[in-house]
Amino acid sequence: MKRVYVYKGFERFWHWTQATLIIFLAFTGFEVHGSFSVLGFEHATRFHRVASWMLIGLIIFAIFWHLVTGEWRQYIPTTKKLAEQIRFYSFGMFKGEKHPAKKTELNKLNPLQRLVYLGFKLVLIPLTVISGLVYMFHKTIDRNDIVLISEISLDSVAFWHTLGAILIMVFLVIHVYMTTTGHTPTSNIRAMITGYEDLEEEDEVEKE
Ligand code: HEM
Repeated sequence: MKRVYVYKGFERFWHWTQATLIIFLAFTGFEVHGSFSVLGFEHATRFHRVASWMLIGLIIFAIFWHLVTGEWRQYIPTTKKLAEQIRFYSFGMFKGEKHPAKKTELNKLNPLQRLVYLGFKLVLIPLTVISGLVYMFHKTIDRNDIVLISEISLDSVAFWHTLGAILIMVFLVIHVYMTTTGHTPTSNIRAMITGYEDLEEEDEVEKE
C-alpha cells in the first residue's frame, strides 16, 4: 500500500462546508415546510436565507477552484467500466471482489461516481438553488414601493424547491452509505478528512 494525497485542502474544506450547509438548509427548510417545529418559523426562515447565501458563495468559489485547477475533468462521464462498477456495487462487493476501477490521484472517481456527482452538480444543486432564488425574490418591492409578484405561481416554485430538497436528502443517504464501500468502511471518510488515502501500489501507478 502507498499513502497518496487524494483530496486537496480546498476540496476538503468545500466538501465538509457544503455538507454542513446542506444539512442545515434541509433542517431549517423542512421546518419552514411545516414538517416539524424546533427553531420556530421566523428563525427557521431567517437562518435558511442566511445559510442559502453562504452556500451560493461557496458554490461560486468551488466553480472557480474546479476551473482553475482543472479538477472539473474528474467529472467527465465515461461508460468505460460503468457496467462492471454497477455489478460490483450490486453483487461483487458482497462477495469480497476487488474494486473494478482503480483509484489514483489523477482519476479519483469511478465511472458511477462521475455520473452521480455530475448529476448532483448539474441537476440537483441548480434545481434547488434556482428554485430557492425564485422563491426568495418571488415577491419583491421595487424602488417606488410597488410590490412586484412574479408570474410564476408560488405553489409551483415551492414544489420544485421541495422536490430538489427531497432528492438531495436521498442523495445524501445513498452517498453516506457508499462512502463505507471503500478498501475499508472508513477509508473514504478518513481520506476526505486528512486528504490522504492508502492505495494499492499497482492502483496508484495505473493511469486511466
Ligand atoms: C441557495 C440555495 C437555497 C435558497 C436560495 C433557498 C431559498 C429558500 C426560500 C426563499 C424558501 C422559502 C422560505 C423563505 O421565504 O425563506 C425556502 C424554503 C425551503 N427550502 Fe430552501 N433554499 C436553498 C437551499 C435549500 C436546500 C439545500 C434545501 C434542502 C436540502 C432546502 C430546503 C427547503 C425546504 C424544504 C423549504 C420549504 C419549501 C416549502 O414547503 O415551501 N433549501 N428555501
